[in-house]
Amino acid sequence: MKHKDAQEIVKEKLPEKRYKHSKRVAETAVEMAKIFEADVDKCYLAGILHDYSKYDELSEMYQCVTQYKLDPNLLSFKSEVLHGPVAAVKMREEFRIDDEEIYQAIMNHTSGRSHMTLIEKIIFTADYIEPKRTQPGVDYIRDIVFEEQNLDFAVYEITKSNILHLVSKDRSIYPRTLDCLNYYNMVKE
Ligand SMILES: [Fe+2]
Ligand SMILES: [Fe+2]
Repeated sequence: MKHKDAQEIVKEKLPEKRYKHSKRVAETAVEMAKIFEADVDKCYLAGILHDYSKYDELSEMYQCVTQYKLDPNLLSFKSEVLHGPVAAVKMREEFRIDDEEIYQAIMNHTSGRSHMTLIEKIIFTADYIEPKRTQPGVDYIRDIVFEEQNLDFAVYEITKSNILHLVSKDRSIYPRTLDCLNYYNMVKE
């Protein structure tokens, strides 16, 4: 898919604010692709498309999990986790984007997982640090990415912060997110 076509489908589907976020994630992912020597084109596409299903109906998302035999654990979670897997499947089934790395990057941007590919780690991190993000600790993560250039450590710190936040709100943790924490705790330097 051409970048322009990807931009168009996202612009049509999402509110302006989310479309702009998607563009910033794509641009941040491209910047990171240059540093970490990833495929720039795939990073742009995964970045612009990652939130395509952000506002889909929850019932439709659950239907998608069943229809495409996604991880059944997803049925215990809500849009926050589901919009990644659902967008990934839609890109493959409806828009014929037949690229495993883009698929996985969109799929796992909401949860992380163990053994992520370079492009998955870039999208997961770019989503967290795009320039308009202001959450506490975001500059610390930006330093890890752009100064230390330690992507595995950035993934670990983001996952840790997400889990701490969820636990503080008495929310459940999607198993892949725990796998992500354990794996990157082991491999980080
Ligand atoms: Fe998202
Ligand atoms: Fe996002």
